[in-house]
Formats: sequence, C-alpha cells, structure tokens
Amino acid sequence: MRRPMVAGNWKMHGTRASVAELTQGLGEMPIPSGIEVAVFPPALFISQVIDGLEGKGIIVGAQNSAVQPEQGALTGEVAPSQLAEVGCKLVLVGHSERRQIIGESDEVLNRKFAAAQKSGLTPVLCVGETLEEREAGKTLEVVGRQLSSVIDAFGIAAFANAVIAYEPVWAIGTGLTASPQQAQDVHAAIRKQLAVKDAEVANKVQLLYGGSVKAANAAELFGMPDIDGGLIGGASLNADEFGAICRAAGN
Ligand code: 13P
Repeated sequence: MRRPMVAGNWKMHGTRASVAELTQGLGEMPIPSGIEVAVFPPALFISQVIDGLEGKGIIVGAQNSAVQPEQGALTGEVAPSQLAEVGCKLVLVGHSERRQIIGESDEVLNRKFAAAQKSGLTPVLCVGETLEEREAGKTLEVVGRQLSSVIDAFGIAAFANAVIAYEPVWAIGTGLTASPQQAQDVHAAIRKQLAVKDAEVANKVQLLYGGSVKAANAAELFGMPDIDGGLIGGASLNADEFGAICRAAGN
C-alpha cells in the first residue's frame, strides 16, 4: 500500500516571525499515523524550520535546487548536496511557477531531477496543463510529455525514488479545484504511463494532487484510488487548516 503524503508548499511567503509561528503550530499538530507530512519553506528559512520541527516527524523539503549536485561557483543557487546536508529530504522539481515564470525547460528540470537524486534527495516532479491546454483537450498529452521527458532521460527506475505531483495550472491559487474525477483521470493516466514500463514502480509511486486543496475538499480528492495525497499551497500557510487536510489524508 502507498502511504498518503500531505505536503505544504509555502512558495515565496514568510518572515522570520511568521515562519516561527507556523513552525510552532505545525509542531503542536497531531499527525495521523500512517501518513507522511512534509513542508517546503523558502530556502532562506529551511534551517530555521528543520530546527523548529526537530523530533516532530515532519519532513522538510526545498522548493528548488541547482542543476549540479555538488557545491561550486554558481551564484544564487543552492546545491542539492547542501540541502541534504542541512537535513532536507525532498525537493520540488518543475513546479509550474518555475516552468512558466522563471522559464525552466524540460532539459534544465531533468538536470535538477538527476542532481537531486544524486545528492540523496527525493525529487517531487510537478506536472500539469494550462487552462488553454485543457480546453483544447490536450491535458493527457501535455502531462504525458512532461513525464516522458524524465523517463526518456533516466529510465523508469528513476521513479523508484521520486514523487509525482499533478497540479493543473488553472487550479493553482485560483480557488478552482479539479473535480475528484478530473484529478483521478489524470492520476490514472500517469500511473498507466509508468506501468507500461514497470508495473511495480507505477504501483508504488506516490501521486499527489495540487491546486486549491483545502480542508473542505481534501477528503473527497484523497478518497480517489490513484490520489495519494496533496501538494498544498495557500492552505498550508495556516497550521490549523493544514492539520485538517492531514487528518483528511489519515482517514
Ligand atoms: P494552491 O493550493 O495555493 O492552489 O497552490 C497549489 C500549489 O501550487 C502547490 O505547489
């Protein structure tokens, strides 16, 4: 059985004070047994959050990491080996905000994916279509292509140590959530695409849904057979709301 995971992507939010408050709230939150809980603070606050959550059973990840595993002359970047050294376990790769706003290409993302794994981090590969692509009936084609980019470069075995997050771009931060069936359909297609290459890897990989998940809609989404939890943006900035989403995954 796959363990459900609920992960909070804090994006570019927070001050030292608000991060301290949120970290304390998360530390006091009861975590349902059998689920994994993770948070992705801005890089600046990762060490603060790791220290604040020590012994609390919450995994800390990074929102981004460099294209090379080792530290070096690469101004402004953070090496995945540095993230691993301070205690990060996960890193987001290919969030739509980085694909679209920063302009990260599949080629750059592949390098980040490989560098993360080489450093002992588990990449969380984010895929998803825009509204225009969905309306043109291209959802599965777009998501399939984003996934193929990694499979073609590194083989299916790369997904034995990775998480996939399906985040339709039109549902991110908009209050529009994919219906449980819409999300399930894409998750099932992702798992099928992996299963063609390796059924065991496909069956084991955690597939998270992201896009306006909140306490009110989490249980229904997480109840779908191929949805193994969520990647939560806005609602993860409130410990009570995030805690309620975690409980929905635990039921
Ligand atoms: P929201 O939950 O704010 O829609 O963000 C989703 C997301 O992008 C998580 O990575």
